[in-house]
Amino acid sequence: MLKPEVLDLDIVMEDLQKMLRPLIGEDIELSLIPEPDLGRLRADKGQIEQIVMNLAVNSRDAMPKGGRLTIRTANVDLDKSYTRLHVGSQPGAYVMLDVTDTGCGMDEATLGQIFEPFFTTKEQGKGTGLGMSTVYGIVKQSGGYIWVDSKLGLGTSCKIFFPRVEQAVMTPKVREVLAGPAGGKETILLVEDEGSVAILARRVLEREGYRVLEAREGQEALRISGRYVGPIHMILTDVVMPVMSGREVAHRLLSERPEVKVLYMSGYTDDEVLQHGILDCDIGFLQKPFTDDTLARKVLEREGYRVLEAREGQEALRISGRYVGPIHMILTDVVMPVMSGREVAHRLLSERPEVKVLYMSGYTDDEVLQHGILDCDIGFLQKPFTDDTLARKVREVLDTPA
Ligand SMILES: Nc1ncnc2c1ncn2[C@@H]1O[C@H](COP(=O)(O)OP(=O)(O)O)[C@@H](O)[C@H]1O
Ligand SMILES: [Mg+2]
Repeated sequence: MLKPEVLDLDIVMEDLQKMLRPLIGEDIELSLIPEPDLGRLRADKGQIEQIVMNLAVNSRDAMPKGGRLTIRTANVDLDKSYTRLHVGSQPGAYVMLDVTDTGCGMDEATLGQIFEPFFTTKEQGKGTGLGMSTVYGIVKQSGGYIWVDSKLGLGTSCKIFFPRVEQAVMTPKVREVLAGPAGGKETILLVEDEGSVAILARRVLEREGYRVLEAREGQEALRISGRYVGPIHMILTDVVMPVMSGREVAHRLLSERPEVKVLYMSGYTDDEVLQHGILDCDIGFLQKPFTDDTLARKVLEREGYRVLEAREGQEALRISGRYVGPIHMILTDVVMPVMSGREVAHRLLSERPEVKVLYMSGYTDDEVLQHGILDCDIGFLQKPFTDDTLARKVREVLDTPA
């Protein structure tokens, strides 16, 4: 099962070195160039290792007479001048993994096909043609971007850009809400149910000199506050939590300690949170470095489902095309830029007629039906949804007889 977590790519690489060296053999020189202060990314560690192994094996195969394999990491910001020339890339802050070899390289025609499943130029028994398509799938799943440069006879460079988990935004925001002098020794009550986020937040805050009290959910936060004798200057809490919402925790804490400043964080965007009245409007809000789709994924995986993830319709159809197992349900957004959720579902159904369909949207059920975006008797999930609603609705749709 996939376990996305906040990762330091340099540490992943350091651990992987021992496996890489025997894999590439003695004729290939391996250089690892880590970046000091490398940002973090959010992904499943096993998948990241798989990417590196697949790329390293390809480089090895491209250098039968030896050569150099360089693996470099870096913090990279992609701007419009880059994204305009690189279709599919989005401006933003990334952690880059660059795997470069001095091997045989590829001609344009080969380069154009490397991501196709089962495409291989290797003789039978040597290649499966699945290495690069797997890499591509994983990169897409982590919201990243891959770019391959190659010159015949000179070598190949694969650059993968993973969205950088922004720890940097946290400190200024915390300082702003506390409105105290920098480097203060304030106490912050952190309420976050996702372990990796809690660890990251705590580390960042403690490095800044704050004292951190940590709770996994609302009740625990109130208990901690009840028995903590010193002052608590701020509560930093997730908005959407299973038992007690962040808002309720904050309100109950304020009735005990009216001086507490409140900073909410959520995977939902600022807009969504405000629009749906989850929060009062003029308080601190910190966007967590993941989208609600990732949250949905997390919830579904916790329920024991296997989740294949696509960012848009074409990709969904590609994933379905190369996935050999059964797909039981498609959970798709309704309104999407290129292909509507309805079209994706219909095209998927023509390939896999057994698939159940569950649509989700920020529009209300009524709006969606009224505008004929959807057929009427199918599953629909109103965004934003709670973990429970999602799990229940998915079960319901899966249980409906075909
Ligand atoms: N580093 C590289 N140098 C040269 N060619 C490469 C490199 N990486 C991939 N390729 C080309 O892309 C093809 C597909 O790669 P992959 O999907 O990993 O399948 P396989 O390695 O099993 O052939 C390879 O057969 C090769 O032609
Ligand atoms: Mg390969």
